[in-house]
Amino acid sequence: MIAHPDTLPRHGDAAADHVDTLAVHGGRDDFIALGVHAPPIDLSSTYPVPDLPAAIASIDAMVAGGTPTGSAIYSRLYNPTVARAESAIAALEGAQATVAFASGMAAYTAALLVARGRGNHVVAVRPLYGSADHLLASGMLGLEVTFTTPDGVADACRPDTALVLIETPANPTLHLVDIADVVRQAGGVPVMVDATFATPILLRPLEHGATLVLHSATKALAGHGDVLAGVLSTNDETWLAALRQVRLLTGSVLHPMAAYLLHRGLATLPLRVERAQSNATELAARLGAHEGVTAVHYPGLGDTDPRGVLGRELLGPGGTLAFELASDDPDAPARFLAALELITPAVSLGSTDTLIQHPASLTHRVVEDDVRRAHGITPTLMRLSVGVEHVDDIWRDLVRGLDAVASARRTVASAAPHHAMP
Ligand SMILES: Cc1ncc(COP(=O)(O)O)c(C=O)c1O
Repeated sequence: MIAHPDTLPRHGDAAADHVDTLAVHGGRDDFIALGVHAPPIDLSSTYPVPDLPAAIASIDAMVAGGTPTGSAIYSRLYNPTVARAESAIAALEGAQATVAFASGMAAYTAALLVARGRGNHVVAVRPLYGSADHLLASGMLGLEVTFTTPDGVADACRPDTALVLIETPANPTLHLVDIADVVRQAGGVPVMVDATFATPILLRPLEHGATLVLHSATKALAGHGDVLAGVLSTNDETWLAALRQVRLLTGSVLHPMAAYLLHRGLATLPLRVERAQSNATELAARLGAHEGVTAVHYPGLGDTDPRGVLGRELLGPGGTLAFELASDDPDAPARFLAALELITPAVSLGSTDTLIQHPASLTHRVVEDDVRRAHGITPTLMRLSVGVEHVDDIWRDLVRGLDAVASARRTVASAAPHHAMP
């Protein structure tokens, strides 16, 4: 019998206090009793119900937003492999529970659907991940949205505001938001923090007063570029039940194979974050000193941290940075990407390999042009998700890209007509 995930130890419970240990052991407490060393992958879509009265009690518990009291009945309602990954993430997050979804955007949508049942209005601090911005701006879910700045949350909240949304560090500008300050401004309205860039290793928003923390687990949590997943964690019973109900009814469930891979990725999360962060810190310094780069955006550098949250809320700058190419040639980003031999030109982040992309063309293409520019998503901005390779190899490839941009600039300059002085 698989132990019920809600009975597994939480962050701070006796078995383990350190995040490195929790990352390895979370969601595995009943393995000795089961006689296994790796999480069993349960691919059942339906579960036997030989005892009908017990099945009725179990389905009633799940429909009310709880967990099964007996048979899981049907995999859209509950899956033990998914529950293990959820339990492991809740331990890292210091949360009562985590609810896993098919993707980060499915998790976002579930939170907004719950909010929709509580009020007509949400407040969102820009910049946000492009699709999240687009989902909100489209009005698709029937919510009225006020977009604001980190200082404008109190003014933006209304009696019918059901949720305040922030993302920190923000995608793709790496700007930091002070969670405790936003919670104070929200004055009792629940705050949801998308902490995908930070991971729970560097930021635990619930400790700073947030009601919900969201991760695109597609990124560093799974960590190997082979999973789509999203997770929401909370200590609030009513949100927890409502999120499970939305997942159950909309069917936005995480597949157990994906949950298994996510769970496996968590074991090395602290190691990967540490290595990616030390690489990124070094690369931010080298890029900042390179003549082919006009600005580097990385937590703690430039104007990214106006309220000094690095060290207070965010425990480290992380593995993602952005930089501006010193070129006004609209083809410069494409030239840069075409010259790379090691770094993968691709969206997403938090993988073992280094990824680079051009936000204005890809992740933030769906955001309106004026909003993009107002939030620093310029035509020359490149976003780099640093992997765990050797830093010198990543650097050599970045220099290849910067050289390609510079040599195109020199070619254009030398081809320009020279006018003889009269
Ligand atoms: C910060 C952030 N939040 C949410 C998402 C959406 O996650 P997913 O792609 O898993 O749906 C992404 C995806 O890039 C992201 O970067």
